[in-house]
Amino acid sequence: MTRYNIQTVATKVHDGQKPGTSGLRKRVKVFQQEHYTENFIQAIFDAINPQGKTLVVGGDGRYFNDRTVQTICKLGAANGVAKLIIGKDGILSTPAASNVIRKYKADGGILLTASHNPGGPDNDFGIKYNMSNGGPAPESVTEAIYEKTKTLKEYKTLEAQEVDLSKIGECTYGPLKVQIIDSVKDYVELLKSIFDFDAITDFLQSNKSFKVLFDGMHGVTGPYGRAIFVETLGLPESSIQNATPLPDFGGGHPDPNLTYAHDLVKAVDDGKIDFGAASDGDGDRNMIYGNNAFVTPSDSVAVIADWADAIPYFKNGVKGLARSMPTSGAIDLVAKAKNLEVFEVPTGWKFFGNLMDAGRLSICGEESFGTGSDHIREKDGVWAIVAWLNIIAVANKETPGTGINDILLKHYKKYGRSFFSRYDYEEVDSDAAKKVVTHLDEGINSGSLIGKTFPSCTGDFTVSEAFNFCYTDPIDGSVSKNQGQVIRFSDGSRVVFRLSGTGSQGATIRLYVERYSKDESQYSLETAKGIAGLIEVAGVLSKLEEFTGRKKPTVIT
Ligand code: G6P
Ligand code: ZN
Repeated sequence: MTRYNIQTVATKVHDGQKPGTSGLRKRVKVFQQEHYTENFIQAIFDAINPQGKTLVVGGDGRYFNDRTVQTICKLGAANGVAKLIIGKDGILSTPAASNVIRKYKADGGILLTASHNPGGPDNDFGIKYNMSNGGPAPESVTEAIYEKTKTLKEYKTLEAQEVDLSKIGECTYGPLKVQIIDSVKDYVELLKSIFDFDAITDFLQSNKSFKVLFDGMHGVTGPYGRAIFVETLGLPESSIQNATPLPDFGGGHPDPNLTYAHDLVKAVDDGKIDFGAASDGDGDRNMIYGNNAFVTPSDSVAVIADWADAIPYFKNGVKGLARSMPTSGAIDLVAKAKNLEVFEVPTGWKFFGNLMDAGRLSICGEESFGTGSDHIREKDGVWAIVAWLNIIAVANKETPGTGINDILLKHYKKYGRSFFSRYDYEEVDSDAAKKVVTHLDEGINSGSLIGKTFPSCTGDFTVSEAFNFCYTDPIDGSVSKNQGQVIRFSDGSRVVFRLSGTGSQGATIRLYVERYSKDESQYSLETAKGIAGLIEVAGVLSKLEEFTGRKKPTVIT
């Protein structure tokens, strides 16, 4: 029997290795501390019993991605993992990784990403564990990993040369089997099995004036975008931009929203592009933005649900719909009209997984630019973008000339419009953020907010309900408390306050505002105008400015 050089290395506990909403996310410099990354990988292995398991490994290509893949290979080999399936060069978009886990029937996966957070030596990195269903680990597992990090004394590693990640094919690495796969191929096959590519191609080829632009934001989706938009749909090379993945995302903030996707917004505005779209660093988020047309993520998922019939994947029916709590109720109205179950879960894609696995959920979305379905167990940026193209192609068969705004307007006429916006106050002092939370809790717990009337520039708002959102998973009964503070008003509007679970520095306060209208004259109104009064009220009842000193949010989406 071959002897492998497996070493046991003594280590010290690194505090604070508690996974957040989407895994352990910290500055690269934190991960670069001695044994820091090894500790966390070892803790994952200690928590999952890795003997004989097959795991998928890949990341969004950000700085430190390649180093960490090598670390996983070394520790994996030493910890009895049977096989690692790795995307070429260590790259897999988050949705592609979810697909590979499912398709190859792996036991789980380790995803290397800090999603939409900036990358590079001075920015963020992340490690996230996914389960055999392809979805993010539930809290019970991330807690078990965290517990292991608190007592870790040593890790096991294989002393060997690095694995060559650039060659597709199989090899062995000590006792470990390694399979390097094409990062894009399986994903393209998946999308082809879901959407009506013939209808989309027909539409695009017969409407050459309909311009499409996909922006990869220098994240992982560039090659996926090229494979779909250029190679499959036959669009010109000019229909994709920022499509070369870079370890620092070109110095940008790869988050597809109106603030950070400015390259796309400018190109669409300047070039009067009919259909623009962007995806984030690891490819699970999306933004749909056309000439004078912005689709809020809350509307996007509602529209996709309403048009599900146009998408071949849903030809046997839609099982159920869902949204995260802060997401607007637009999708609830579609569910009602179609007589479907609809679920309201806490923020975090992992909460959709159980419902999908139980066959009760097909289409879901979050206000944080996440949209997806049960084709995988992660949200899926390129999926959402192609879904919209599929819908536009089918809509044009009925009514030629239909664009994004026509689809939105038709939707509002049928269901009414939910004005929705999110204000982010990033890197707020943690104590100041706590004061806001405590102040709101006092109002909620004492009941003193109920019945209070707040005047505003658009009229009075009277509080009808105030509570801390708590979720009981209908499938496994697990309870998630304190998932956001909700204040509802008598006209059906609401504001929600929540602390972000994905930041790596200080605290980020999110304020979500929603107002529903059935007044047709408001359907074309700018969102900011539709919610101005509520924003004012949210400021007064939270005392946010007084506690944090922030007059304005850092980002509005
Ligand atoms: C990640 C998760 C999403 C979630 C988002 C919330 O992107 O995958 O499911 O909506 O984080 O982030 P936050 O910063 O608001 O906790
Ligand atoms: Zn992401």
